[in-house]
Amino acid sequence: MKTNDLVNKYGEMAADIGEIIISEDQIQKRIQEIADQITSDYRGKYPVMVGVLKGVLFFMSDLMLKIPIPVEMDFLAVSRYSSEARSKSFVRLLKDLDTPITNRHILFIEDVIDTGLTLNYLLKSLKEREPASLEVCVLFNKPKYRLIDIPLKYKGFDIPDRFVVGYGLDHKEKYRNLPFVGLLKAEALH
Ligand code: PRP
Repeated sequence: MKTNDLVNKYGEMAADIGEIIISEDQIQKRIQEIADQITSDYRGKYPVMVGVLKGVLFFMSDLMLKIPIPVEMDFLAVSRYSSEARSKSFVRLLKDLDTPITNRHILFIEDVIDTGLTLNYLLKSLKEREPASLEVCVLFNKPKYRLIDIPLKYKGFDIPDRFVVGYGLDHKEKYRNLPFVGLLKAEALH
């Protein structure tokens, strides 16, 4: 789609998008498929869906609205430090869960997994609380720089290691509220 068409359809933020990688329709269709699978796997289990703020907001919301069985939701917030972009980063918990999860079925929801360091740290913390089960559901998987291999029970899309924004993914906190995933133009990357 040309820039003018993108802006007409999605507003001024879309002027910074070079190309749509995953469309709004593709995202919603895949989320419906994942939701159907989760509904069938978790019927009668009353799972807790745990999201990591902030990028997961739209995925978690759309996913839950497509799951017609009782589920609870809770959130974690973390900050990450890294001496380089991807290596040696470590995670600090800024906000813990509101409720205990011992003996509960936990579905851990992430918008994107890249190195796997954040997920690895948080899964360890949740496992120590002895949930009945603990599985991972991620919408966007960036496999190229994975440092820790973590089984992903539900996965939306593999995406390339390019600078993508939208549907929760940001650049300097901007563009999260685009309903698709797009490549950011080089000139918008400052
Ligand atoms: C994203 C995502 C994960 C983390 C994954 O969060 O939500 O928490 O990065 O990266 P990793 O696999 O390399 O550890 P981000 O730091 O972008 O924060 P945000 O959700 O507030 O955008």
